[in-house]
Amino acid sequence: MISQYDRKSHKVSHYSANACLAPLVSLHGKAVTTIEGVGSARTRLHAVQERIVRAHGSQCGFCTPGMVMSMYTLLRNDPQPDMSNVLQYLSGNLCRCTGYRPILEGFRTLTKEAQGPCGRKNCCRLNGTSSSTSKDDEITPQTTTINTTDAGNRHSLPHENGALEEDLTQVDHLFDPSEFEPYDPSQEVIFPPELKIRPDLDTESLQFVGPRVTFFRPNNLQHLLAIKDLYPNAKIVTGNTEIGVEVKSKKRLCPVLVNPTSVPELIEVQIDDLGVTVGASVTLTALENTLRKIVDSKPEHKCRGFAAILEMLQWFASKQIRNVAALGGNIMTASPISDLNPLLMACGAQLQLQTERSKRRIKIDGSFFTGYRRTAVSLNEILVSVHLPYTNKDDHVVAYKQARRRTDDIAIVTGAMRVTFHPGTHVTRNLTLAFGGMADRSVLATKTMSALQGRPWDASVMDVASPMLLEDLPLDPWAPGGKVEYRRVLSLSLFFKFFLRIKGELSKTLPTVVPPLTSSELAVSQVYQERPYQSTQLFQKVNKNQDPLDPIGRPVVHAGARFHATGEATYVDDIPSMMNELQAALVLSTRAHAYIRSLDASRALALTGVVRVVSASDIPADRNVTGVEERDEEVFAGGRVHHVGQVVALVLATDLNTARRATTLVRVTYEDIKPAIITLKDAIREKSWWDPPRLLRKGDTEAALSDSAHVVEGELHIGGQEHFYLEPQGSLAVPHENDEMEMFVTTQNPTFVQEKVASVLDVPWNRVTVRVKRIGGGFGGKETRIITHALAVAVAAKMMNRPVRCVLDREEDMSLTGTRHPFFVKWKAGVSSEGVLTAVRMFLYANAGYSLDLSTSVVDKGLLSCDNCYRCPNIELSGFTCRTNLASNTAFRGFGGPQVTLAVEDMMERIANSLGMDPTLMREKNMYHPGDFTFYNQLLPDFTGRRCLNQVMSQADYTKRRLLVDSFNRESRYKKRGLAATPIKFGFSFFDIHLNQAGALVHIYKDGSVLVSHAGMEMGQGLFTKMIQVASRVLEVPMEKIHTPETSTALVPNTSPTAASISSDVNGMAVLKACQTLRERLRPYREQNPKGRWEKWVVQAYNDRVSLSATALYKIPGITNFDFEKNEGQPFSYFSCGAAVSEVELDTLTGDHEVLRTDIVMDVGESLNPAIDIGQIEGAFMQGLGLLTLEELRFSNSGVLLTRGPGAYKIPGFDDIPKEFNVSLLRDSPNPKAVYSSKAVGEPPLLLATAVFLALRDAVAARRKDFGLKEDFQLNSPATVERLRLACKDHLSEQVPKIEQGSFAPWDVTV
Ligand SMILES: Cc1cc2nc3c(=O)[nH]c(=O)nc-3n(C[C@H](O)[C@H](O)[C@H](O)COP(=O)(O)OP(=O)(O)OC[C@H]3O[C@@H](n4cnc5c(N)ncnc54)[C@H](O)[C@@H]3O)c2cc1C
Ligand code: FES
Repeated sequence: MISQYDRKSHKVSHYSANACLAPLVSLHGKAVTTIEGVGSARTRLHAVQERIVRAHGSQCGFCTPGMVMSMYTLLRNDPQPDMSNVLQYLSGNLCRCTGYRPILEGFRTLTKEAQGPCGRKNCCRLNGTSSSTSKDDEITPQTTTINTTDAGNRHSLPHENGALEEDLTQVDHLFDPSEFEPYDPSQEVIFPPELKIRPDLDTESLQFVGPRVTFFRPNNLQHLLAIKDLYPNAKIVTGNTEIGVEVKSKKRLCPVLVNPTSVPELIEVQIDDLGVTVGASVTLTALENTLRKIVDSKPEHKCRGFAAILEMLQWFASKQIRNVAALGGNIMTASPISDLNPLLMACGAQLQLQTERSKRRIKIDGSFFTGYRRTAVSLNEILVSVHLPYTNKDDHVVAYKQARRRTDDIAIVTGAMRVTFHPGTHVTRNLTLAFGGMADRSVLATKTMSALQGRPWDASVMDVASPMLLEDLPLDPWAPGGKVEYRRVLSLSLFFKFFLRIKGELSKTLPTVVPPLTSSELAVSQVYQERPYQSTQLFQKVNKNQDPLDPIGRPVVHAGARFHATGEATYVDDIPSMMNELQAALVLSTRAHAYIRSLDASRALALTGVVRVVSASDIPADRNVTGVEERDEEVFAGGRVHHVGQVVALVLATDLNTARRATTLVRVTYEDIKPAIITLKDAIREKSWWDPPRLLRKGDTEAALSDSAHVVEGELHIGGQEHFYLEPQGSLAVPHENDEMEMFVTTQNPTFVQEKVASVLDVPWNRVTVRVKRIGGGFGGKETRIITHALAVAVAAKMMNRPVRCVLDREEDMSLTGTRHPFFVKWKAGVSSEGVLTAVRMFLYANAGYSLDLSTSVVDKGLLSCDNCYRCPNIELSGFTCRTNLASNTAFRGFGGPQVTLAVEDMMERIANSLGMDPTLMREKNMYHPGDFTFYNQLLPDFTGRRCLNQVMSQADYTKRRLLVDSFNRESRYKKRGLAATPIKFGFSFFDIHLNQAGALVHIYKDGSVLVSHAGMEMGQGLFTKMIQVASRVLEVPMEKIHTPETSTALVPNTSPTAASISSDVNGMAVLKACQTLRERLRPYREQNPKGRWEKWVVQAYNDRVSLSATALYKIPGITNFDFEKNEGQPFSYFSCGAAVSEVELDTLTGDHEVLRTDIVMDVGESLNPAIDIGQIEGAFMQGLGLLTLEELRFSNSGVLLTRGPGAYKIPGFDDIPKEFNVSLLRDSPNPKAVYSSKAVGEPPLLLATAVFLALRDAVAARRKDFGLKEDFQLNSPATVERLRLACKDHLSEQVPKIEQGSFAPWDVTV
């Protein structure tokens, strides 16, 4: 948070900003508050920190300080904000773990909507009755309405349909807001008085001179112009949000930077009779505030352009960016996908330009942008201000932006349109139609503009405009940015929306000439309106006889949350620098498949601070080899590279910036090897897979297919997914005496790292200790791919005999560490006339990347997921692990299960459609019953899929809502709704039987405190918390006495990865056994002195020389190796089921959509900790929603990942959560196979997002039906705005010429 004193208003204002983009020197004279200045776990948590902790809003904790700081900044500006402010302030924050709901609920207690201090409508502090004894409290589920648009609209589930009695035993609260300390703004830290009394700090002229960059802050226009005259190439930086990205990502050097924020002319706003003149360095937030005031105070017709700018600013980047970025920066960047430039063209904005010797005023029109990121402004000119004129009564201005994600994303296409009518008529006098995203610059559709001039605003407008727009806005099939057909369709769709919007406006003033819009036209012509959020969480209460100190089954807060929320939690990059430490940066391959012909590090070595460049030539060839299931990888690429982003060398330097800079100076020459196989299509064509393909059969599929009443065929491509854990991978290797190497690593798999490091260093395992305190999210991505850099770091540390640290930046991490496997699935299914499956044949192709890693197991898991919840007597499966020239793809939550579950559910839907049958009926007819066997002959003794599906459909009122959705779709032409219900089944255990074990080591110290160590590591999933709960129950000591500091190979050896969802199961049982041993040892002392204290028993046992330390090993019983050829074995220990109902609304003109409501019922057995389990369900569901609707990995056809970093790769944000989100844990479902009857929960809920995908498909089908298209269609995953729009054929999309694939090299390819 940056705080600044305004010397005119004498007020302090606070704003949040992205630390990575704010130049340190730009903070001169301002106060900066970081998380450390807000509150501390050592002293007192701030109200914001307390909320996020106790509302369970922190899992891995890596995003938590950012969340706290955004909310804290808001409170500092407005101590009682409303929820729409909260969403605005959080618009630039991302979380990959929680699913956002608990964060919003925690922060909601600080808003106006919370109504009373405790957040309840009937707060005792408002009405004088105690909320804890309120009858309401006993029966009301934790239903939270997070209303961003109005104050009420409370709506609760599932009690509407009469399930109230059941709720009495099931309902509970995940947290109790009445326990929160009220927020007291008077206790906040004051603004530093010294900054208040020193105006010179703001106004003095400054010059900071660094070794590579000089930064000026002139304090008057003349000085600014003089600097620009002296250094024409100097960059003017206000927010640095454009330049900063170029410097960081593109490694661009800007030797002279000039910050004009102390030049009055550039930061002033002047309002006069003609409009408003805005200084070029006025921030977008300030612009927003100014325009809002004008719009609120002036006649509506004068402010139509300003209103359009305000609408657009709502979707422009994030609050953090808008707080610092300036209007001038957006104009001068001249990005072809700028949001504001087309709008400024439409508004008739004029620019004031100035040099030391001249001044001129020009209009932003069709000639202003002269090329890609080029303008008519000359090098030595400064943009001083922008004049925005008022509109008049006959002017109308509207702008639309379509991006992949609604908030904080750059546009795919922006359309800003203005029409002026002859006074009092609907005949056009003038038009400006400006577009972004349709060329290498913002452009005007000039032919369309003139063709529409003088026309009445009636149906003929579309007939004239559509072909003209296509002519005005051509795009080559290979145009940068791709999505060519979609962009062209969008240009028509956005114009159509404009046409409707203006028609609607005219109908108000000329009702006899222009008919009013129909409700469906009205709905689609408006810009997106926020809806309120609401949610419910239901879980079973613990037995009323349970000891109040026994934490099992209670929503206990994550053990690390207080440290996450205060920034005190330590991750690898937070470990303080060691003496002599070196920083490492990676030299990555730029070719997908090539021989390395030479490597020249001389220029890098010449850089001051560079100590060494390490490459394959520095280690013996046999120790350069590594791998996961095979020895098929190298620590440093030796003779050959196999993908873009492979590690070729490591630069060691005394600081990170130097190391990173030096990587660009290492010259590697390559000779390409043909072919480079990038896509699954390439791999299938070249038969590039690890032999032999895996086959699995039951029955006689061929015969059954020929005997089936109906045979249906289809295929589906499911894209991969970047893990996007918030903490990138990193390692710190510290060499010690006698060949010891201590490794601090972001891994889910410490023993694996120990083994691989020992191998490359050629030392016994006992010399390598791997320590993991926590990691900032893993999701499978940190299970094995850590070897891509950790081994190189260990080699370098040993070679230099100095500590070496390497923390990847986001782009490196994304290039190097692989993703979820993209899958291509082909299927053929036979069904009876009643819709009963008779046979299924499926081919699964997984894009594994260049090495095997865990891909065989991923494909195996996919094969064993091919039934999802359905019986089929004849099944024939083939699984192909395809070898390509991509980074090695790897484990990711669900491990092949999500891709194949989607394919199966898509198949069920398409079969049902082809039979004209209700898909839910089709599912019901084919679903397993308890006691059935799977097609791989495993018994399902307690299959709960039917219960989950029935319960969720009843809770969600599916049948009634199906009718409502159908009726909505009959009425609504352009917006369509979709509804889907899907069940899931997920089997647990590692396929490698030996991995299904865990060890624990428990010490009791003489003061009675307990140290629990086990094989699992903490990555946000709450494992440490659950293990402490288990130990607390067994030992009967409060949780506060138990601690787990870290996971270390020196504490518990030979650990399995923390993966496959079973870590609580196996570690829980190991901890339980070790604690039972200790309890038995202490039993005599308890029995002798039953009223005594725990500490006393412990001391007595110690004095008697009883061991107070115990180990235990737990192995999962009953599982056996699965033989795919014979279809024999017991691959899974048990199964978990769940079901979801989702309803979506789709704008069929653009593909924009939102999830209106999702209901989930999930079987987690008897939950060890409902808060953690519900957190896992919500987080996994949101990750699944990202996988299936949003997250798109785009590669160039030469294998370069184009979507590196958060700017190009979008994970779900706050705005993407279902507007109503109801999660219930299935009641009365104890699991005899895991600790305290619980079930694993980490992965399965991700599969529930299938319901969202199918609901979107349902909505598309409704639109296609209107257009007379009833036949089957293929919608690949992710169902992006592009795919959805193109699947909705209509009168607009049909006008866009189809692109003939194969006739050109596209900008990007589907891998
Ligand atoms: C996370 C993120 C999200 C973004 N989202 C969006 C979005 O949704 N929509 C969108 O349109 N853009 C977006 N952007 C781009 C960027 O934020 C905007 O273009 C912003 O307005 C740039 O302003 P700035 O002050 O930060 O520019 P700076 O980086 O400070 O400067 C940008 C360029 O303009 C030149 N310049 C600045 N002022 C002057 C002047 N007075 N005279 C001459 N030249 C000048 C600079 O020399 C430089 O070349 C995003 C950027 C980021 C990092
Ligand atoms: S808790 Fe938000 S990213 Fe992990």
